[in-house]
Amino acid sequence: DTSGKMVIEAENISKVYDKPIVTDFSTRVIRGDRIGIIGANGAGKTTLIRMLTGDLPPDSGRVRLGSNLQIATLDQRRAALSADTTLKEALTRGGSDTLMINGQPKNVMGYMKDFLFAPEQARTVVGKLSGGERGRLMLARALSLPSNFLVLDEPTNDLDLETLDLLQEMISDYPGTVIVVSHDRDFLDRVATSVIVAEGDGIWTEYAGGYTDMVAQRGFGVRAPDAPAAKAKAGRTAHLAPMVPPTPKGKLSFKQKHALETLPKQMDKLRAEIDTLGRRLADPNLYAKDPTSFAAASEAMGAAEAALAKAENDWLELEMIREELEG
Ligand SMILES: Nc1ncnc2c1ncn2[C@@H]1O[C@H](COP(=O)(O)OP(=O)(O)O)[C@@H](O)[C@H]1O
Ligand SMILES: [Mg+2]
Repeated sequence: DTSGKMVIEAENISKVYDKPIVTDFSTRVIRGDRIGIIGANGAGKTTLIRMLTGDLPPDSGRVRLGSNLQIATLDQRRAALSADTTLKEALTRGGSDTLMINGQPKNVMGYMKDFLFAPEQARTVVGKLSGGERGRLMLARALSLPSNFLVLDEPTNDLDLETLDLLQEMISDYPGTVIVVSHDRDFLDRVATSVIVAEGDGIWTEYAGGYTDMVAQRGFGVRAPDAPAAKAKAGRTAHLAPMVPPTPKGKLSFKQKHALETLPKQMDKLRAEIDTLGRRLADPNLYAKDPTSFAAASEAMGAAEAALAKAENDWLELEMIREELEG
């Protein structure tokens, strides 16, 4: 009997917005699976996981979820915390200093240490944390609630290398099921038991193994939505895509090359801006003294973080294309 192991059973689910986002997709997720979702910006990764986790009904088809699922999510939009919340408050959610982690009581200071925070950071406000630290905090928060199903929507976007290692470790040790949206090839190779890839036109295909296994089975990796080969293929042969080898142009377009060269600088600029805003928000008097400036800085911080996440995403996609073209 496998019914107790069933986490998700999706049958022929579809969703159309202004274009087909998911077309007739079926999958089964079994307890302990670690599933990676890969696709370009706007391909429908967030929509797909929302349907798979019962957060969004499909237009057609159906999704059955296993019983007693406790879902923990790490959202793409991480705006949930206000900038003046302290690290400790964020982790305890204003409650007791003892957290229940995987069924065991744990003091919040020890938990902070597990996530590479120093004890003196307990009273640091969220607005003062670096982008990487904020990512780490959101991860710690997601994992501090009892759960058996972890849903991570682009958690790797703004994580530093240290945190990426930590995340890999956490996912490996996590006793439940994991769905993670990521473009990070190494990361997926290390954690994923299968990957679900956007093939274009709302077609999604599942491959056993990590990113490298997917490329081997599919014959090629992920392309940007406007890559010539993907355009030419779209429609007519989309359902055959996994079996059809690519006809790469052999090099990046001028626009892609330019973006690949300029994005790192843009990302540095955004990181500097986030640091500056973080310092401004960290001024304990600002909120009391000038709530309007505080709100404006918080908003600018959110915008800069979103822009950084997008730039990093674009850069990663271009890097993957470059890697494929250059072998
Ligand atoms: N609620 C919605 N209404 C209309 N269009 C939507 C909605 N949610 C997402 N979309 C559109 O569907 C496409 C896929 O979105 P999304 O699932 O967020 O993609 P991804 O997570 O891969 O970047 C995008 O073009 C987006 O604008
Ligand atoms: Mg998304």
